[in-house]
Amino acid sequence: MTRLGETLAAYQARDPAARSKLEIFLLYPGVHAILYHRLAHFLYCHGLKFLARLVSQWSRFWTGIEIHPGAKIGRRFVIDHGMGIVIGETAEVGDDCLIYHGVTLGGTGKDHGKRHPTLGNNVMVSSGAKVLGPFTVGDNARIASNAVVLKEIPPNATAVGVPARVVRIAGEKVDYTTSVDQIHITDPVQKELQALSSRLEFIEMLLDEQSRQGNL
Ligand SMILES: CC(C)(COP(=O)(O)OP(=O)(O)OC[C@H]1O[C@@H](n2cnc3c(N)ncnc32)[C@H](O)[C@@H]1OP(=O)(O)O)[C@@H](O)C(=O)NCCC(=O)NCCS
Repeated sequence: MTRLGETLAAYQARDPAARSKLEIFLLYPGVHAILYHRLAHFLYCHGLKFLARLVSQWSRFWTGIEIHPGAKIGRRFVIDHGMGIVIGETAEVGDDCLIYHGVTLGGTGKDHGKRHPTLGNNVMVSSGAKVLGPFTVGDNARIASNAVVLKEIPPNATAVGVPARVVRIAGEKVDYTTSVDQIHITDPVQKELQALSSRLEFIEMLLDEQSRQGNL
């Protein structure tokens, strides 16, 4: 009950259109999907895999949200809008995550065992984004709408595009072309000339010494 209460509060905090907890409880498919998932996960963990799958497919039919019974979901998980969401068997979702419609937490088909991603805490996966593979998306990361994420994303990062690339870390631009100093660069030819000149000086010094000693 506490878990349900905090989930409803999370919806209220994250969705400006949400009016009351009662309305959220009765009408939000994300809440229904999570309640069904809790039952399905319990059955899955107790070896009742067929029943677990039955519950999750029933939930999918009503909500458009398919969460495999084996997936591990954290607290206060908010699924905004629902519909077209797939969360794979070995996916893990941390606390306080937010995902929108059209999100897939899936596999690429290349991995065995752990095949699906792990979301840290407070991760946002925007509408239509696909996160594919057994890597981690760090705490507080934001995945942009329609991004396709194929590798690990560090904490506090914003990742956009196909394939996704990190464009911000903690709100700061990640732009290597402007951070590289293109003016104060060492000239390799000049370095080589300096090396030759010091060798020449050394040889001249040796020759001077030899001639002073009368060896030349
Ligand atoms: C990514 C997002 C979360 C914003 O995160 P942010 O950390 O505040 O990032 P910014 O808005 O500063 O954008 C960073 C850069 O990514 C680009 N960007 C943002 N969203 C993008 C997207 N979906 N696809 C491609 N590029 C995107 C911005 O243009 C900006 O580019 P720049 O570096 O050239 O300026 C937001 O753009 C987003 O996708 N929100 C979708 C939420 C959603 O699904 N809503 C559905 C409600 S129904």
